[in-house]
This record gives sequence, structure tokens and C-alpha cells, in this order.
Amino acid sequence: MALYSEKVMDHFRNPRNVGVIEDADGVGEVGNAKCGDIMKMYLKIEDEIIKDVKFETFGCGSAIASSSMATELIKGQPVSEAMKLTNKAVAEALDGLPDYKMHCSVLAEEAIRLALEDYENKKKA
Ligand code: FES
Repeated sequence: MALYSEKVMDHFRNPRNVGVIEDADGVGEVGNAKCGDIMKMYLKIEDEIIKDVKFETFGCGSAIASSSMATELIKGQPVSEAMKLTNKAVAEALDGLPDYKMHCSVLAEEAIRLALEDYENKKKA
């Protein structure tokens, strides 16, 4: 059996939503101290709906595939739904990740959560 699913390979080779949103409403950046990989998420939100999302990931193939899939999963979703995104859901949408690569999908969950928190904090300010 191949180590990585076709979906993982597809999102690694052709990542969706790569880039930066200059006037983002929320930005979240996380890193994994062990592997040194870094992920940054940018959100554009209107009327509590995620209108646009972009990411920059300096990391392994699974981290890139996870970020790409995570952006697809939350784009067009209400903020309240995006808050519930779990790394498991990201990994499942990719048709699975090897156990030792599950932490890569955790980065996506955390980066999105931080970006949403940033958005909430800015709203209060
Ligand atoms: Fe670190 Fe994948 S090995 S995010």
C-alpha cells in the first residue's frame, strides 16, 4: 500500500489557496518545535462567513497537504463551523495520514483556530 493517499499527493503537488491576504481579518501562525515546520493562515471574513483563506507553510508534504485541505474545508463556512474543525477531520478528508504524520494535520487545526481567535480579538478591539 502506498504510504500516502492520492489526495495527500494531489494537495501536496497542487496546493489550493497558497499565498497571503494582505488585509486579513485574522492571522494565525503555529510551529512544531520538533520538526521545525511553520504554518500561517490568513482569513478574510464578512458577516461571520469565511470569504477567503490563504496559507503559507514551510514544512513537510503532509503539512502542505493538510493546510491545503483545511482551507478547502473552511472556505465559505461560518466562523462557528470553522471553529469546530479538527485535525482528524482534515486527515480524514485527505483519506488518512500515517500515524507519525498526524501532528502535521494538528498544525492546520491550530493555525486556523489561532486565526479565528485573532479575528475575534480584533472585533472586540
Ligand atoms: Fe512537521 Fe509534518 S513533519 S509538520
